Amino acid sequence: MSDEKLPPKRVSESRVVLSMMMNPAHANALGHVHGGEIMKLADEAAGLAAMRHARSAAVTVAIDSMTFDEPIYVGNLVTLVAELTYTGRTSMEIRVEVSAEDPLSGSQVHTNVAYFVFVAIDSQGRPRPVPPLAIETPQEQLRFQQAQERQAERVRRHQREQALRQHIQGEDEEA
Ligand SMILES: CC(C)(COP(=O)(O)OP(=O)(O)OC[C@H]1O[C@@H](n2cnc3c(N)ncnc32)[C@H](O)[C@@H]1OP(=O)(O)O)[C@@H](O)C(=O)NCCC(=O)NCCS
Repeated sequence: MSDEKLPPKRVSESRVVLSMMMNPAHANALGHVHGGEIMKLADEAAGLAAMRHARSAAVTVAIDSMTFDEPIYVGNLVTLVAELTYTGRTSMEIRVEVSAEDPLSGSQVHTNVAYFVFVAIDSQGRPRPVPPLAIETPQEQLRFQQAQERQAERVRRHQREQALRQHIQGEDEEA
């Protein structure tokens, strides 16, 4: 795809809110919901926000900083809010905030936050440009700056990891 300038899109245009009741299939014998279930739901919510922003297929390229701040139990209504925080040329960072509500008492707690990076892809699976993010509020500006720093660190980490793999491969071939 060509690199023509795409019109900016607002955070609110791709925001995704996903709610789901937790049942015994999501939990261990004590009724605590598995962390992996929440990660899967968060990946789905983030992926939908990325697709809505890019209006194309998008794949997960990195997940980090996922916290598990409070337990989630069977019977809780879990709500995930996924919002773009940053766009690069073809990559997007999405913040997913998770909360759990006891539908009987109405009490609600923040349970998790996670950051996902998705890359928009074309029909050949190659990265394709995404619209830049139209920043509208001071909070979005702050989130964008922090996301930019996280993304730069991820790229450095990825390069270090690749260099290490190549080094180990070289040693294996010599042995
Ligand atoms: C996503 C994918 C197409 C990127 O291919 P690539 O050859 O690394 O492409 P590029 O080097 O051009 O990188 C594309 C973008 O991803 C970003 N990126 C690549 N690796 C990254 C990483 N580990 N962490 C964060 N960002 C990363 C690059 O910075 C670049 O962003 P920019 O265009 O905004 O500057 C490829 O890595 C892939 O297919 N991965 C598997 C994805 C997948 O199967 N996910 C799970 C199922 S959905």
